[in-house]
Amino acid sequence: GGVRLWGGRFADGPAEALAKLSASVHFDWRLAPYDIAGSRAHARVLHKAGLLSAGELQRMTEGLGLLEADVAAGTFTGTVADEDVHTALERGLLERLGPELGGKLRAGRSRNDQVATLFRMYLRDHARIIGGLIADLQEALVGLAETHPDVAMPGRTHLQHAQPVLFAHHVLAHVHALGRDAERLRQWDERTAVSPYGSGALAGSSLGLDPEAVAADLGFERGSSGNSIDGTASRDFAAEFAFITAMIGIDLSRLAEEVIIWNTKEFSFVTLHDAFSTGSSIMPQKKNPDIAELARGKSGRLIGNLAGLLATLKALPLAYNRDLQEDKEPVFDSCDQLEVLLPAFTGMMATLTVNRARMEELAPAGFSLATDIAEWLVKQGVPFRVAHEVAGACVKECEAQGIELDDLTDQQFAAISPHLTPEVRSVLTVPGALASRNGRGGTAPSAVVAQLQEVKADLAVQ
Ligand code: ARG
Repeated sequence: GGVRLWGGRFADGPAEALAKLSASVHFDWRLAPYDIAGSRAHARVLHKAGLLSAGELQRMTEGLGLLEADVAAGTFTGTVADEDVHTALERGLLERLGPELGGKLRAGRSRNDQVATLFRMYLRDHARIIGGLIADLQEALVGLAETHPDVAMPGRTHLQHAQPVLFAHHVLAHVHALGRDAERLRQWDERTAVSPYGSGALAGSSLGLDPEAVAADLGFERGSSGNSIDGTASRDFAAEFAFITAMIGIDLSRLAEEVIIWNTKEFSFVTLHDAFSTGSSIMPQKKNPDIAELARGKSGRLIGNLAGLLATLKALPLAYNRDLQEDKEPVFDSCDQLEVLLPAFTGMMATLTVNRARMEELAPAGFSLATDIAEWLVKQGVPFRVAHEVAGACVKECEAQGIELDDLTDQQFAAISPHLTPEVRSVLTVPGALASRNGRGGTAPSAVVAQLQEVKADLAVQ
């Protein structure tokens, strides 16, 4: 059986149904290493406050070390009877040190300040892991841009042909979005670098402990909580983490959807590597973009984790309520999902092949150079309103004849508008259209080279 932490005023142990409902050890066990680190720091401040002798501190630290090794080896685990990871580890310590010394560690702390601290520590570590995986994906995308610096493709709005763009420019757009996600994780980490340890159950401790020393010990750069009620009751750090991970999922899903479309027979823009696609059990010809589809699917799940956590927090009075035990599973799940998804997604992007001929064939289709006619006219002094009309008339004529813009003859151009001299042909090529958009952030090859340098410099410091 487990160690109950509140035996004193109870005549009976918990009903089995309550114990089953109450148990969180099956999902909070992953906090065990953080719990032990917290206990080590707590033992030191108990000693500083004169509540543990030097000898006791030493034996306590040794006991925690033994427990830590057994947890790592899997020879000590929590059970349903333990309820949660904190209680299980207390049992483990009592078993190793005996009730006299083992029973001293709980002074001046509560599971409420413990769990708030450990949850932050866990998520801070995983923010770094996920940030690293995002950087890997960004590097794969930068590689794709660098190895295809001059491939043109149809740029789209409303999924319709809009204007030609460089494939590298399009790929780098995703690198920018992922860069903001990585930045969100770093800024979140800075905000979360505050330790609730010392907040006790909700009101702080009467034992003269030093929460700032514990915070420093546990790597919380911004010290300990300024308010013990806030320290134990707040979970906005978890909700914000759930938002950031959901946003990462959504950003991945947008690229995923494009890969799925690009990989269709109709588009044939990219071909996925065999190692990063799947077959069908019945249709021998199939090669499916399952990684991209799972990314799209998991983004829904990540949104669900955020929505569920927000619903748990809504209208919850201060300070700790047991509802808060529901905070961990959704956020742990968001970590787990991204940590399996991102490496596969990166592999898919790093290994796909680009069908340059197909992209370039379609780049000028759908009258995607019509804006170039209008802008060329503006440079000749024609007001944009008129220029837009004239370019539109060119499209209409082409549609009627079933031809493309550069198939129009000099006579046909002149018949549409006297402003349309044969020189307009200079912008009716994809390279001309691309090269003309050479301002900062534009799709001209020169601008994309500059962008690539900036993105790489940002990645190097990220
Ligand atoms: N296991 C709980 C949680 O995850 C922490 C324990 C606090 N329990 C309590 N009855 N005060 O939130």
